[in-house]
Amino acid sequence: MAVAPFLQAARGERAAVTPVWFMRQAGRYMPEYRAIRAHHTLLEICARPELAAEVTLQPVAALGVDAAILFADILLPLLPLGLDLQFAPGEGPVIFNRLRTAAQVAALRPVNVESDLGHVLEAVRICRRLLDGRVPLIGFAGAPFTVASYAVEGGASRHFVETKKLMFGAPEVWHDLMTRLARVLADYLSAQVRAGAQAVQLFDSWAGALAADDYRRYVLPYSKLVLDALEPLGVPRIHFGVGTGPLLEAMRDAGGDVIGLDWQTPLDEGWRRVGYERGIQGNLDPVALFAPLPELERRVDDVLRRAAGRPGHIFNLGHGILPHTPVESVRAVVDLVHEKTSAGAIAPGLRPGSALEGSSRGSGSAGFSQAPGLRPGSAGVGGPA
Ligand code: CP3
Repeated sequence: MAVAPFLQAARGERAAVTPVWFMRQAGRYMPEYRAIRAHHTLLEICARPELAAEVTLQPVAALGVDAAILFADILLPLLPLGLDLQFAPGEGPVIFNRLRTAAQVAALRPVNVESDLGHVLEAVRICRRLLDGRVPLIGFAGAPFTVASYAVEGGASRHFVETKKLMFGAPEVWHDLMTRLARVLADYLSAQVRAGAQAVQLFDSWAGALAADDYRRYVLPYSKLVLDALEPLGVPRIHFGVGTGPLLEAMRDAGGDVIGLDWQTPLDEGWRRVGYERGIQGNLDPVALFAPLPELERRVDDVLRRAAGRPGHIFNLGHGILPHTPVESVRAVVDLVHEKTSAGAIAPGLRPGSALEGSSRGSGSAGFSQAPGLRPGSAGVGGPA
């Protein structure tokens, strides 16, 4: 079977087309998802593998994306640890017994991911069966910092005051908490891979709240523990965060074969800083999906122009799809990315003389996918899958 463009790009190889998927591609903006949500809570969908698998596949059918992402939530591992998690309508996640003390951290329960999170692993197996090789399946987990921030704050947070109080004021408790979380999350992701996930993404959504020094001291070792644990399994690892402009080098040092960029750092600058031996994922502003089509297309062109046809680019948003996003716009982005990057395509924005022309590294008339391989080992890997 041909190698999927998503997996080729995630490994830094030239792909026949730039692959595209979206964080939060299954969700409330889709009528198919709302129809299921009308009868089930979010936690029910996550707890029932057939439902989770059905929702996982909805965007694959509706959008034509190049990868499926398992339907689950980064907070699920908090349940077997002993935290009382609910998703309150309109409020987001709420944890009733949030963690604040050394004794509470010490009392966290041991987790056996195969039994305690077995429903998620079963959803992975069902997804693989239903996908039947059409597109790869991405597994995911929250990174220790982002998961810890929910456990400590008790929900979403603006300034992460309680999290940083623990970090700065009781570093031994912080390190104990992060060590426990990192071990569970490493086990959980490894189990997803053994169940059939073909790539994984580590979401450190709120890492951007930290100064680079604090990230390196209080967070990096634990994200690294999780990412390193996956290395022997051989699947591509994507490492993502928001507001990470000041942290890109540190996040790269923590690990990941592909770094997920938010929309605030221009993709070319972000990739240069991360280094071309890693892949890059991103980074359209999610709010661009609300713009009129010509403006949306201009922004898609801009991301592709900055990726410059290098192997290793996975097109995505800089963060998840927002509720109320027009489905037609999401579908349009998939089609635009595919049309503009398929081998031999002459991307409209790159025609000689056009406003966007100028930085394609290819032979001049060729499309975005023609740039020479820039990373060691990529030479000769290209060509259609
Ligand atoms: O399609 C996919 O991307 C897979 C499913 C997925 C969900 N959550 C389902 C979900 C993924 C990858 C996540 C990750 C997640 N969950 C993150 C990291 C990604 C990010 O966006 O930064 C975070 C921080 C969470 C925690 C979380 N879960 C929050 C803050 C919320 C409330 C947000 C809101 O908009 O209300 C959730 C709930 C949640 N998880 C929804 C979905 C589709 C909301 C929809 C619903 O209630 O049905």
